[in-house]
Amino acid sequence: MTRAARTTVRLNNAVDMPLIGYGTWQVTAESIAAAARAGYVAFDSATYYKTEAAVTEGVRAAGLAVEDMFLTTKVWRKDMGYESTLAAFEQSRRAFDVDTIDLYLIHWPQPQASLMIDTWRAFEHLLSQGKVRAIGVSNFGEDDLDLLARHCEITPAVNQIELSPLRPQHKLRAINDERGIVTAAWSPLGQGGPVLQNPTLRAIADELGVGTAQVILRWLWQKQIVSLPRSNNPDRIAQNIAIDGFELNSPTVNRIDGLGGRP
Ligand code: A2P
Repeated sequence: MTRAARTTVRLNNAVDMPLIGYGTWQVTAESIAAAARAGYVAFDSATYYKTEAAVTEGVRAAGLAVEDMFLTTKVWRKDMGYESTLAAFEQSRRAFDVDTIDLYLIHWPQPQASLMIDTWRAFEHLLSQGKVRAIGVSNFGEDDLDLLARHCEITPAVNQIELSPLRPQHKLRAINDERGIVTAAWSPLGQGGPVLQNPTLRAIADELGVGTAQVILRWLWQKQIVSLPRSNNPDRIAQNIAIDGFELNSPTVNRIDGLGGRP
């Protein structure tokens, strides 16, 4: 069990969300079980990923209770709208086999304002009913956040966006911060692409005697950005939350901050 996996960030409605979660896009129930055994307590799912039932299967296979996990899922585009969101939510809840989902997100913004507003109003309703503990969005830009702010009551608790050292999203992160929205990073490891080969990150990792992925995840953790790394490899699954034993000093953080350019 690592402390890092159990550290939380407080959302704008006082719900505590783990700072690292296991991303479930293209992962198996077996890998989910490995993640639960390794000590992950948060699982990021989506209707689109078709992994909600697999999360519960994997967590139970690890001998743990899914009710003890922080569960996130997302409404898919085709289900957006007031009634269809409520129906999609019920399906997600059945797939997880739980009463309450911790965090429900709009997976992608849509161009039709009415669809966005109706979906968010359904989210507000679910929150008021206690069926979800927090509501948020994913892949939203400033204009999308503005639309909800103009027409709806509740500010999203989280904006989950693609974010890694080579795509640091400085501007959108600042916008989230200004509004009290926690930033969460999908594909923090750049989908296993060039970021893991980046010479600066590799040099920092070598200096510290850790892996490049661990440097990236520690960088996010120190910034209080939620990260959702994915892996189907049990060693890497465990390695990605083993980020307690070292620290990035501020010159090192600044070096990493500078890798992706601006904004
Ligand atoms: P694998 O499943 O073989 O471990 P992201 O979370 O940014 O989308 O990245 C996921 C990709 O990164 C997957 O291809 C995964 O491959 C790889 N990956 C995950 N953890 C590590 C790690 N610690 N070191 C190297 N590659 C990793």
